[in-house]
Amino acid sequence: MTGSIGIGVMASGRGSNFRSLAEHCALESFPAEVKLLVVDNDEAGALKIAEDLNIPSVVADCGNKRGSMTAESSERISALFNDEGVDLVCLAGFMRILKGSLMEDYSGRIMNIHPALLPSFKGLNAQKQALEYGVRFSGCTVHFVDKGIDTGPIILQKVVPVYQDDSEDSLSSRILAEEHRAYPEAVRLFAQSRLKISGRRVLIENE
Ligand code: GRF
Repeated sequence: MTGSIGIGVMASGRGSNFRSLAEHCALESFPAEVKLLVVDNDEAGALKIAEDLNIPSVVADCGNKRGSMTAESSERISALFNDEGVDLVCLAGFMRILKGSLMEDYSGRIMNIHPALLPSFKGLNAQKQALEYGVRFSGCTVHFVDKGIDTGPIILQKVVPVYQDDSEDSLSSRILAEEHRAYPEAVRLFAQSRLKISGRRVLIENE
């Protein structure tokens, strides 16, 4: 894949990573364009950001079961992304586990961002987990999505220090600043066809 790729972003909440991706995509030199935002609830802050930035968005009914999505919604979202010319799906605070058509159709082309240095502190409240464990460093991880939760091959990680007087909020905002750098960087590498998955490892060409 050369030139500009299309990305589809999936979010459930605030949407700061969506904003960061969209703002990078708006730069002429950035090799990707946000084609569509999909949220699973109409209260997601990401919706307002999409409206402000003139990015098409869809509120998808993913079913009532917390954390998971129905097979129908997966099929529908995959078809929407396909119709919009989405090459890469970016999960940005999407609070459901993907399955079905979306996982199959976009295999190897779905990324997620997690606010910890995986494989430590998977799942929810990663920053709180890191604080409670007492680590001296934490950070964020951009990884490809596989069938597990936060288990896919790691693309990039950014490290931040954990200070003695940190609260969950202060640590989260230090990590978030790095998330906003890491995600666009990973998307750029993907768009430049520089990421090669080799088993658990992601090799970056010409690094
Ligand atoms: C981020 O911390 C991200 O790492 C996690 O969910 C949070 C989403 O934040 N997966 P935002 O909605 O992008 O502001």
